Amino acid sequence: MDRFLSRSPVASGREREGDENDFPMNKAWANLRDDFPVLHQQVNGHPLVYLDNAATSHKPRCVINALAQFYERDNANVHRGIHALSNRATAAYEAARERSARFLGAASAHEIIFTAGTTDSINLVACSWGGANLGRGDVILLTEMEHHSNMVPWQLLARRTGARLRYVPVLGDEGRLDLSQLDRVLTPEVKLFAFTHVSNTLGVINPITELCARARACGAVTVVDAAQSAGHLPIDVGALGCDFLALSGHKMCGPTGIGILYGRQALLDAMPPWRGGGSMISNVEYFESRWAPAPQKFEAGTPNIADAIALGRAMDYLDDLGRDAIARHDEKLATLAYARLKAEVPGIRLLGPAEHRSGVISFDLPGVHAHDVVTFADQEGVALRGGHHCNQPLMRKLGLASTSRASFYLYNTEDEIERLIAALRKIQRFFAG
Ligand code: ALA
Repeated sequence: MDRFLSRSPVASGREREGDENDFPMNKAWANLRDDFPVLHQQVNGHPLVYLDNAATSHKPRCVINALAQFYERDNANVHRGIHALSNRATAAYEAARERSARFLGAASAHEIIFTAGTTDSINLVACSWGGANLGRGDVILLTEMEHHSNMVPWQLLARRTGARLRYVPVLGDEGRLDLSQLDRVLTPEVKLFAFTHVSNTLGVINPITELCARARACGAVTVVDAAQSAGHLPIDVGALGCDFLALSGHKMCGPTGIGILYGRQALLDAMPPWRGGGSMISNVEYFESRWAPAPQKFEAGTPNIADAIALGRAMDYLDDLGRDAIARHDEKLATLAYARLKAEVPGIRLLGPAEHRSGVISFDLPGVHAHDVVTFADQEGVALRGGHHCNQPLMRKLGLASTSRASFYLYNTEDEIERLIAALRKIQRFFAG
């Protein structure tokens, strides 16, 4: 086996003398890469270095097994049948909701709605809460670093309701929010403030507790986009004081097609449904219907049962490792990668802060299009992402058409930074001539 494949994050940590407290050492980290079958393959003749975790993460064996086990043993529809399989499926699905409430620090499982992912969750809030509560003259406040999924649903809502959009500015390549502008933009007309926890392009971690508190003081409802943070950092919605929080399962070791909207109970109770169908009603007549309480009110039709259950298993996996430890691991790799890229790749333009950051690093190699960087890196077995990362307005503001992006997660190692740098140096030599 290639040397880098044999090194787990914990092995790297053990080689460092005297810093055992600043590196994850819990038993679950030992041989962690063995939990992820997909990592152990060659791509274009090289051991895979997967650095596209901001797009989607890989799945540990326990999550894959949870899916297989559901389909092999318990497969049935939920909330409908009274036969054994249906009861087992319902119990497992609702247990996943309880697990999700604990994962997020929600007051109750009734505050957890299963959705298709972050985009779906944000659209739910925009259609339901936004449609019922916003009108002409109201302002929706966003930040300039939002992903299209936390921008376009609000644009659609603004068009429908006559509300206006406003943005908190981003400060240059380092990408932090310009909080000195918050008093100017967060005024009493702002009815909703939606912002990302972690930027999928800049790697910035926003001060979301402060943003929630400032919004609350102004009477605005808050929506936190936790797509890039939920599996990477500890989150406690109670301590945070947010009204809504959206996440995607597939970016946190869970399956694709499943996500969560956390909503504060009082808000969910007052919101109308956004999709009609079976399961979300308490009574239906030919000309009118009454709704079930939340969360059922927002889960019309057969839900994504197997994936919700497997997402619960992913949460167990992440909590066994410890989300504090995952955050330290991500930050350690990203800080090291940032410093080494800056020092060893001539001319590179790096976005985001040098430290106190998430595991996402975007960069521009002058004279080489991001798609060429990604294509050439792939020839070396290194998986990156290139493009606008669903951040077109931010790219324009920074004077870029696209960037290349390396994004780290719990199974990445320091040796993989070496492979990334070697690939980029080779690309530079090729394009130089
Ligand atoms: N939002 C995902 C990304 O940033 C797909 O790559």
